Amino acid sequence: MSINAESASTIFAVSINQQPVSVAALPTDRLSDVLRDKLGMIATKIGCNAGDCGACTVLINGETACACLTPIAQVNGCSIETAEGLSVKDSESATKRSANDATLSRLQESFLQHGAAQCGICTPGMLMTAKVLLNDTPKPTRTEVEDALGGVLCRCTGYQKIIDAVVNTHQFTAETIVPAVGEVVGARIRHLDGRAKVTGELTFGADVIPEGALAVRVIRSPHHFAHFTLGDLKQYINSNTGIEAVLDASDIPGNNCFGVIQPFADQPVFAEGFARYRGEAIAAIVGAPDHLSLLDEADFPVEWEVLKHALLPEEALSESALAIHESRAGNVLIRGYVEHGDATAALARAKHRVSVKTTTPFIEHGYIEPEAGYCVRKGERLEIYGCTQAPQMDRESLAEIMGMGMDAIRIKPSACGGGFGSKLDISFQPYLALAAWKLDKPVTVCYSRGESMRSTTKRHPSDINLTVGCDDEGIISGFAFNGTFNTGAYASWGPTVANRVPVHASGPYYIEDYRADSVAVHTNTPPSGAFRGFGVPQSAIAQETAFDQLADKVGMDRLEFRIKNALRNGQPTATGQVFERGVGIVECLEVLQPAWERANQAAAQFNQQQQANQSPLLKGVGLGSCWYGCGNTSLPNPSTVRMGITRKGKVVLHQGAMDIGQGSNTVITQIAADSLGVAVHSIELIDADTDLTPDCGKTSASRQTYVSGMAAKLSGEALRATLLESAGLSINTDASIICHEGTVTVDGDGKSLEIDLSELKINEFGYVFMAQETYDPPTKALDEKGQGVPYAVYGYGAQLMELTVDTELGTIKLNHITTAHDVGRAINPMLVEGQIEGGVAQGIGMALMEEYLPGRTENLHDYLMPTFGDMPNFTHNIIEVEDAEGPYGAKGLGEHVLIPTAPAILNAIRDATGATVTNLPATPDKVLTAINASKQVGAA
Ligand code: FES
Repeated sequence: MSINAESASTIFAVSINQQPVSVAALPTDRLSDVLRDKLGMIATKIGCNAGDCGACTVLINGETACACLTPIAQVNGCSIETAEGLSVKDSESATKRSANDATLSRLQESFLQHGAAQCGICTPGMLMTAKVLLNDTPKPTRTEVEDALGGVLCRCTGYQKIIDAVVNTHQFTAETIVPAVGEVVGARIRHLDGRAKVTGELTFGADVIPEGALAVRVIRSPHHFAHFTLGDLKQYINSNTGIEAVLDASDIPGNNCFGVIQPFADQPVFAEGFARYRGEAIAAIVGAPDHLSLLDEADFPVEWEVLKHALLPEEALSESALAIHESRAGNVLIRGYVEHGDATAALARAKHRVSVKTTTPFIEHGYIEPEAGYCVRKGERLEIYGCTQAPQMDRESLAEIMGMGMDAIRIKPSACGGGFGSKLDISFQPYLALAAWKLDKPVTVCYSRGESMRSTTKRHPSDINLTVGCDDEGIISGFAFNGTFNTGAYASWGPTVANRVPVHASGPYYIEDYRADSVAVHTNTPPSGAFRGFGVPQSAIAQETAFDQLADKVGMDRLEFRIKNALRNGQPTATGQVFERGVGIVECLEVLQPAWERANQAAAQFNQQQQANQSPLLKGVGLGSCWYGCGNTSLPNPSTVRMGITRKGKVVLHQGAMDIGQGSNTVITQIAADSLGVAVHSIELIDADTDLTPDCGKTSASRQTYVSGMAAKLSGEALRATLLESAGLSINTDASIICHEGTVTVDGDGKSLEIDLSELKINEFGYVFMAQETYDPPTKALDEKGQGVPYAVYGYGAQLMELTVDTELGTIKLNHITTAHDVGRAINPMLVEGQIEGGVAQGIGMALMEEYLPGRTENLHDYLMPTFGDMPNFTHNIIEVEDAEGPYGAKGLGEHVLIPTAPAILNAIRDATGATVTNLPATPDKVLTAINASKQVGAA
């Protein structure tokens, strides 16, 4: 392969996947950019461009290296291996080939077999690193895998399935599980869309750049709060080569305003006159990519007048604080409230009471794929390709911003390299749309890691005060909760957090006398948005800490205390909702009993020995629990799924639920297969694309398996009924359906009937038979006391953490976690485990290390996230207490799994040391401070 050299370039000769390659580049060009941009080898992914995430790991002369930190000149003459080479048998196709044509290596097969690739953005880096390990150590231990792969970050999997895959590469049986027709739900099948993830061929937002595309560079506020005046933009354009336009608020044809909850929409695409947070966009430069990257932002014509900012709610609520939004008095966005019974009276008569105060910081989503995509104008339409969790919402926002009809906007989602809530909000999309529309040229953007962290949403910091009481029997008597949430500069999902927290703050417990209020306060920080749990992980920390202390106070076993108070069928929740079936928290707690007893005994024995030896190590055991309402709170929440059969006899599923790694492409297809009654691998999947798939809503709030899964079930059943009727059978007949080329055979009632498809009329979607069904969960609005039916379905869970504290250093070693999650029905148990492990990893980060500080931790070096070595061993208990609403009894899972982890860790630290850490994260200094404080209390 030979690439034309530009004048300043040098020709470099390397071997890539055993193929000689010559490429013209500047000596300082990153190897990653050369591979991706000049050679089209996109299997090398980019997460940070700073050597922190390892996504770009390649082999150079057989050793792992970050391609983003390697100048091309440094590898001249070297042998380079990339993920494209892992599956290549045919030397002709060493640099490019189709994922479907490639023969996978055992390692890649093992990743698929073990469900080790969720979103897939980290997978090529993991595979390359594992390859080196397996070359030297074909049968590695788990510890050897952890050590070898420790430099590559994964935010989705919790690393366990990756370790399983590498450890078992030498011995797994490469069989794809093919479940029988009608037995697909519950089968542990591989991800149906997994193959392109392990070849690296899956295209994320930055992996496709249209020919001749311009680039966008967004200019952002360097100040937390400031007035600004733009200078002479025309002169700026004329005095810089390669700039085609500078966009600002005056270029917006529609409304310069967006937001995920319409009545609260308040965020401008470009700030006008003053910026409310550091990182807010004020303008965007559009031009040739090579020129834009050379521009010095200090030369951009803007004058700033810095204002007094407020980064904390107490600052924003003070009388001297400036108004962040004129229309929101006192910088309060919204308040939430739920009241049931009389909490004050119940607390007054309680025999035992505890009060806790907990605080949590901003937490960064930390997806490995930064925001990226491209836009092209096609006549009077715009097509936007890029990462998102909510294609239909993106479309609505862009139509509003662009002043266009919805039909004029097409969202074609790329693969999404993790989202966890942040990619529900639009970010890069408006800049692309404006530029492509104005210039009628394709335009692309890829946020840097710093830009991503500065400008996008975070988990709400919280300040929570909670008082709980109980009687001598340990029955809870009174619960009074107050939570203040830092919602940042704009509303985003602040109203959802403020409303969801009071509904959930009880945890999965029956509390007759309950009061919970919350407030979301604006500050001059990035907007706080959706992040796995919408505020519930924060409130669970306070509730579970208080429950442990209360159990101790009443002298009751902590697990027994929880089981005694756990919500049961027929008891009202804090919002007065009563479930007659499906409440599974007792089952989750009870299944932990043997592990609880064993762990407590083991810890006591260990601690006795350590204390005798004057060792600083102490073991502790802690519990956490969760419940979580699936879907929007008391709001319409529909999903629509289409299934059709072509004249050629192909079954096609149009499911628009964004698969961001959680597995909806697989799970919803499994549901569709069983409801129609066909083999799962016979279904052709068309996933999210606003031109091709009906609206499945957003991927958030653990709603896709439940809501879109129900829509798929209804569609499959409707299509089945149509086929049976066409064959002259009753729709309830226990018949088999087999699609062939041009025909469908229906066997039932002792007859075999063949439907000839070739002469049937094709409808507007290209099908001879079709069904399209919608499901919307039955909910009811909450009244002024928060009473009503906020969710049709809740999921439940509990976790038991065993850990060791070094009482001299304050460090924590997580030893083992036993999980118990009630998912109603595990549509795919392997994916359920993957969700739990990934959620636990994020819970560990929240408990022990993660803290986003505006202006200080805006990279993956200073912002710490869990790596392989931070994870405990796992034992899973998947509980299936069937839900009355969900498809085949299934409940949601994605948010739930993170909620119990941090409380279980904090309770285990307290169990080990007597120290209560209430100010997260529990870094070693805070653990030591808490230990010293508990010693002083003990001495007094
Ligand atoms: Fe590892 Fe998503 S699968 S980051």
